[in-house]
Amino acid sequence: MSFSTASLLVLITCLLVTVSQSHPGFNFGWGGHGGSGGISFGLFPEFYQFTCPQANDIVMSVLEKAIAEEPRMAASLLRLHFHDCFVQGCDASVLLDDSATITSEKKAGPNKNSIRGFEVIDEIKSKLEEACPQTVSCADILALAARGSTVLSGGPNWELPLGRRDSKTASLSGSNTNIPPPNATLANLVTFFKRQGLDEIDLVALSGGHTIGMARCVTFKQRLYNQNGNNQPDETLEKSYYFGLKSVCPKSGGDNNISPLDFGSPAKFDNTYFKLILWGKGLLFSDQVLLTGNEKNSMELVKSYAEDEDFFFEQFAKSMIKMGNIKPLRGFNGEVRKNCRRVN
Ligand code: HEM
Repeated sequence: MSFSTASLLVLITCLLVTVSQSHPGFNFGWGGHGGSGGISFGLFPEFYQFTCPQANDIVMSVLEKAIAEEPRMAASLLRLHFHDCFVQGCDASVLLDDSATITSEKKAGPNKNSIRGFEVIDEIKSKLEEACPQTVSCADILALAARGSTVLSGGPNWELPLGRRDSKTASLSGSNTNIPPPNATLANLVTFFKRQGLDEIDLVALSGGHTIGMARCVTFKQRLYNQNGNNQPDETLEKSYYFGLKSVCPKSGGDNNISPLDFGSPAKFDNTYFKLILWGKGLLFSDQVLLTGNEKNSMELVKSYAEDEDFFFEQFAKSMIKMGNIKPLRGFNGEVRKNCRRVN
């Protein structure tokens, strides 16, 4: 997009936002889910160019502090964007707390005792509200935080399309049914991603997000003690790694003990995750199965990313943009929440 086209789009958006704010309830009828009906404006990187040019700097300054204090926070924030986008699109539904009208997604199986980073998002939001009141959506904050966390951990940067708006609803059942579980087969994983408009290339590249962060024992226990209902470990697990994992994750109890998804460099965004998979040291079944799932494309991709970090970074960035484009609310659909935990 040329500079002048981009600026024109921003200007039009600003003008229309001004009109809509002075005429509450006035709706032009464009935007909406994935361009369904009416004219639909896409997301674009310059969205806050005039309304909050310092947005990314504010996000980065909060992230720098939070990640310096606790490197794992980068991983937690990256995952938060994923869990947001896979449930009714990237609309910050995952951030909503329980209320009279909302059943929070935080209680869903894949999220409970697991997703984290909400306080960091709150801090970013309150700083942004001070600088540019009711301008930067929580959904965009999640996307900015995911990109910033990747960069601050040593991973790739990318031009991030912006302009998402926040939902007024959440979906507990959507979280339970749309977020892939760690024991999924390769065919299952492909299906979960396809449902979101993502392909196998996206699946393998985005799984590379597991180059940072931790998983709880309960998410890989089955592999250690009873992979196929025969009381035997998963035979694709490398032996010394398997013995190490058993000491962190006993057969009974210890469900919340944590282990790094990439034990080689758990806080560094690199391609070690794929190298470990080649060595039979993927932590989750869903990680290892990218190689052992008997699907040529995915197997080749794991090998290519293990060999060539730049290639992985390039594809990860592309797939993150694609994931960030899942059904955003745009135009006058949804709202810009003042507090990410509740609707206005
Ligand atoms: C392919 C399907 C996926 C499955 C089955 C899966 C599953 C999991 C599981 C079970 C955990 C550990 C949760 C816990 O123990 O509390 C986890 C952590 C994580 N996931 Fe995924 N995930 C998938 C895809 C992704 C994607 C697409 C991303 C981002 C691009 C991602 C980023 C992360 C990160 C960064 C962590 C660590 C979080 C932390 O330390 O707080 N995952 N994932």
